[in-house]
Formats: sequence, C-alpha cells, structure tokens
Amino acid sequence: MEQKIVSSLKILTDADKEACETVRVSENEPAIGKKRLFIESYGCQMNFSDSEIVASVMRDAGYATTSDEQHADVIFLNTCAIRDNAEQKVRNRLRHLNFLKLKKPGMLIGVLGCMAERLKTQLLEEEQMVDIVTGPDAYRDLPRLVQEAETGQKGVNVFLSREETYADISPIRLNSNGVTALVSIMRGCDNMCSFCVVPLTRGRERSRDPYSIVKESRDLFERGYREVTLLGQNVDSYKWENKVNFAQLLEMVALIDPDLRVRFSTSHPKDITDEVLYTIKKYDNICNYIHLPAQSGNSRVLEMMNRTYNREWYLERIDSIRRIIGEDCGISHDLISGFCSETEEEHQDSISLLEYVRFDFGYMFSYSERPGTLAAKKYADDIPADVKQRRLAEIIEVQQRISLERNQRLIGTVQKVLVEGTSKRSENDFSGRMDQNKRVIFPREHYKIGDYVNVMITECTAATLKGKALTEVEAIF
Ligand code: SAH
Ligand code: SF4
Ligand code: F3S
Repeated sequence: MEQKIVSSLKILTDADKEACETVRVSENEPAIGKKRLFIESYGCQMNFSDSEIVASVMRDAGYATTSDEQHADVIFLNTCAIRDNAEQKVRNRLRHLNFLKLKKPGMLIGVLGCMAERLKTQLLEEEQMVDIVTGPDAYRDLPRLVQEAETGQKGVNVFLSREETYADISPIRLNSNGVTALVSIMRGCDNMCSFCVVPLTRGRERSRDPYSIVKESRDLFERGYREVTLLGQNVDSYKWENKVNFAQLLEMVALIDPDLRVRFSTSHPKDITDEVLYTIKKYDNICNYIHLPAQSGNSRVLEMMNRTYNREWYLERIDSIRRIIGEDCGISHDLISGFCSETEEEHQDSISLLEYVRFDFGYMFSYSERPGTLAAKKYADDIPADVKQRRLAEIIEVQQRISLERNQRLIGTVQKVLVEGTSKRSENDFSGRMDQNKRVIFPREHYKIGDYVNVMITECTAATLKGKALTEVEAIF
C-alpha cells in the first residue's frame, strides 16, 4: 500500500504580529521513493506564498514535503528580515536545528528568503551548519544548490532578478484549508521607505503576466477554492505592458465567478486610486476590505520615512474609501512607534489618526533599525527602547478599544461568512471570515468548509465575532 505522509507548512509569523503562530496542514503527499522536505516560513504572506513555489520546484526534483523535521532530508527556513527580532527568531531556530543535525549529519539545512538575501555568504560564516543560502529570486536553482550541498560544498545563490515572477510555476498549496489561497501578482518593491529592508531583500518591482494570474485563480476556483488574495508589496503599482493596471486586474479576477471572493494586499496610500475603489464597489465578490499602512500620523515623520504622502493625503484617501465604497468598508493599518526623532506630540498625531479613522484592526510595531536602509544611513535611532515600547503600548491600547467598538456595532447584523475550518477553541464551531475580513465563529451544525453562510452576529471581542447561522428562511426575512 502506498504510504502517505502529511505535508505541511509551519508558519511562524513575526512575533510583533501578535499571536498568529499557526501550523497549517495541506494535502498528503505520497513519500515513497522520494526524499523529504520540511519547510518553515516566517514573515509576510509573500513568504508563505513563496514557500509554495519552493515546494513545487522541489517536487519536480523528487521531494515530498513533510511536517516532521525529525525525518526530513532537507530543512528550509524561509526567513524574514523586516525587524531585528524576526532575524533573532531564525537564529534561535538554527541553534535548535544544530542539535538535530548532530544526530543526522546527512541532513541539509537551507536558509531562504529575505534574511538569506540580506546577509548572503556572511550567514554561512556566522551559522556554520547552514548548507544552502538562497535569495527570493533564485528558487528555480534550489535543486542544483541542494545537489551541490550533498557533495559537501555550500550552495549559494542570492542573485536578484529584474524579470523573475515564477509565473509558470504551479504553487503547491502547503498552507491550505482548500478554501482560501494566496496568489502572487508582483515581486519586489521600488519604493524607498527609509525604514524598510524589503527593497534590499526583494529587489526591483516587477508585475506578473495577468493571464497567468487569472489562470491560476480559475484553476483554484475549479478545485473548490472560494477566495484568492492577490499579493504584492504595493499592489496599486501593478502594471502589465501599459495595458493592465491593478483595477483592471482586479476586475479580470472578479469576473472568474461571483462565488470567488477576491482580496488583495498591500495597498500603498500614495498609489491607491479611485478607479480601484470604484472597481471594489462594482463587484460584490471583491471584498470590502483595504489594508492601508499609515506608518505614522505625523507629516514630518512621514517625510523622514520617505513615504511620499502626508497626513492630509492619507486622510483624504480614507475619506474616499468611505465615500466610494461605504462607511462599513473594513480598513486596517500598520503603524510604527518611535521612529528616529519622533516627539511626543508627533506620537500623539499617530494616536489621533487612529481616533479619526477608526480602523477595524492594525499591525503595530516599534521601530527597529535595519542595516543598509536610508534611515540607518541618515538618521540616529535616538528614541530609547522603553519610550518606543511605551508609545507602542499606547497605540495598541487605543486600537484595541476602537476594534472592540467597531465589532460591537455589528452585533445584531447578518454577515455572509466563508467557512474556512474548525474553530481552534471548539470542534463544534466553525471559523470563517466575513467580507470586511473579520473572523466569525459559529456553531457548525450541518454546514461544510467552503460554504457561504449567513450568520447573525450575537457577541464579540476586539478580535473576533461570534454568531449563529440563519436558516435560509430566516435569512430572507
Ligand atoms: N509593503 C508594505 C509593508 C511591508 S513590511 C507597505 O508598504 O506598507 C510590513 C510592515 O512592517 C510595514 O508596513 C511597517 O509597518 C513594518 N516595518 C517595516 N520595516 C520596519 C522597521 N524597520 N521597524 C519596524 N517596523 C517595520
Ligand atoms: Fe517597504 Fe515601503 Fe516597499 Fe512597503 S512600500 S515594502 S514599506 S519600501
Ligand atoms: Fe519579511 Fe521579506 Fe516579507 S523582510 S515581511 S519576509 S518581504
């Protein structure tokens, strides 16, 4: 009988992103006659999506993914370099894997992704047991690098490309619930936000062929998926041969089927156009949810951050979202506390931005200086750690209160929820998301994963809504 193993992608998001440590299990992969690959991904959705490309490249080279690092022939850590603590986490993990390697000397360890790109061969010197270092644009080369490492040589490829989009590679849906999937639409970033390491680790911005995006999304729909998230560092600057812009791409994907939900991330306040907002408004299946990182509520700080918009511009974009899509459009943010030279008054501007916009939720960070960035070269990292932390705590407290208030407004309303899986807390409950990207938990009754269910919201916390499914008759009246 053919032996099956469970393949999985263990996802460890940045600790700052609060309690989202998840293990997601995908389809079983037959492992007979194959070598075993264990992949662990850190950082953003882009990285999770890349791990699916890596798994696909490695499958063609005879590897099946496994959830069990003890039995792996090759271990890849797909890493993040966005803040210092993201890198420290990988360093700790490598220390732990070193013990495993002492027991299994033939096992290979590869560091992939943004930290690999940032540190290049320096990583091999600092972490002696690492065999392979591969940057985000060199994943096609992994089988060769692994072969090289098998002969005892270190395998390194950190070449950054101007063209690579992996458009022709069918990702293996590792972190899959069979309902929602990530679809990468572009790579790299041409913005030079002064705090950010991404342009250094992911290179120049390039857009993927729209027809390959539509094909991948349609294939997913035909295989039972009901939601795609289009991914890029700055989706609003998506452009294909001066013919297809982001609004047009959104429309092309939305037209695949009204039952396919379309999400996207991340929007940049300087680039999000009214055309995009009207497209969201036009199609019911494009979710009414926008992640619009602010980074600061103060114009002087935004200028130092090189975000190329000011507070007024940001607020005008928010007003346009509410005017064109509606008051109920879900909006989330990213904010950084304690950027170089930020005063108490400027910090208060970030808090007043939260109060004005009333975001549904946010990802909040304290500033972490990254070597090689504009800010590291130009500005002193002069806000003491305890002040950064105190400001961060204040920001989080305000956001928590607003999140709770925004959720409370939904009690008594009926929301269309796409069921993604069983609730982590109880086998008897399902978990899914409503249009505005809020998580909803409700008793599973006779419903199935992948169903759209009308749920009456009955209670909430700042993070989650709870409710009860309405019968079809109740839903009509
Ligand atoms: N492309 C996205 C952001 C990607 S990085 C955008 O432009 O908004 C995700 C978030 O990490 C950023 O929005 C920012 O809030 C945070 N971040 C990036 N660099 C950081 C740093 N050096 N210190 C602290 N937070 C940082
Ligand atoms: Fe970083 Fe700015 Fe690019 Fe986002 S837009 S990835 S914050 S440089
Ligand atoms: Fe991290 Fe790279 Fe994403 S630095 S946030 S994994 S683009």
